[in-house]
Amino acid sequence: MITAQAHSNIALIKYWGKRSNALKLPVNNSISLTLDQLYTRTTVEIQADLTQDQLFLNGELATPGQTAKVQAFMDLLRQQFDCHGYAAIHSTNSFPTGAGLASSASGFAALALAASHSFGLHLSSTELSRLARQGSGSACRSLFGGWAEWLRGENPDGSDSYAIPLAANPALSLAMLVLIVENKPKETGSTDGMAHCVATSPYFSAWQATIEHDLGTLRTALQTGDFAAIGQVMEYNCLKMHATTITAQPAIWYWQPATLVLLQHVYQLRQQGIMAFFTIDAGPNVKVLCQEPDRAKLVAYFESLSEVQQVIPCKPGPAAFLV
Ligand code: PMV
Repeated sequence: MITAQAHSNIALIKYWGKRSNALKLPVNNSISLTLDQLYTRTTVEIQADLTQDQLFLNGELATPGQTAKVQAFMDLLRQQFDCHGYAAIHSTNSFPTGAGLASSASGFAALALAASHSFGLHLSSTELSRLARQGSGSACRSLFGGWAEWLRGENPDGSDSYAIPLAANPALSLAMLVLIVENKPKETGSTDGMAHCVATSPYFSAWQATIEHDLGTLRTALQTGDFAAIGQVMEYNCLKMHATTITAQPAIWYWQPATLVLLQHVYQLRQQGIMAFFTIDAGPNVKVLCQEPDRAKLVAYFESLSEVQQVIPCKPGPAAFLV
């Protein structure tokens, strides 16, 4: 019985659009921060009497849809590494599942690590990242602690599409506050959402055309430790991603009215001289990036708002590990 823990990551420069659906290959590189408080713990036990993999999510038998995704991933692992046997898989999230908090990222990173060890494999972090990517694209970044960049790669077989750790200026002392406005699963998952935007949004090409510039800006800002530049490019990139969703046909609105209220609060805070910046994924919740010295007062500020159900204050989190 092997247990692994992997932490969720939030992209500052987003992965939004695949060039191969089957292999989960992205159109662009993305850069993320792994968070300490959002994680998945997964136990894998190969059992001789099983004829298929079983999935239990947060203590309950998972839905057929969730189970099918995990079974497909386990099939892939068995095929690619010539392993045998089926597993009982117990997975627990420290946060709401499927609400735009990257549960699939931490989930597939933890599963890649626990399942590969259950089959007696000792894969490198690059191999694990490439494997986790095939479960959920963003999972390839969750093998690493702190900052990670997912290299889109060029090869049609995806062999060069995996994440690498990214060094940042040690003077940076950051926190990310996850503001929960709604904790029910979203209507359009990220896979369907991004495919719909690639296919129907006239703004998708503009999104792609500006990505390299955003990546370069963020890499430089991380090296120099320029917090304002990090925050600005994060917001800008997020809004461009969401511009592709609201200009798809039909439109996808991941935001709720509360989401927009929170963006206004972030703008107001900046007017008052408090450096805080937002990002939003494929769901209504808002993540606020701030500097560590401002963390406590910002937590209290957001906790006092009626739009916010819960604040999860996070720091940069660790790489995936065996428990
Ligand atoms: O890995 P997926 O299929 O859950 O897609 C994640 C997409 C975003 O969270 C919106 C962006 C990202 O890079 O994580």
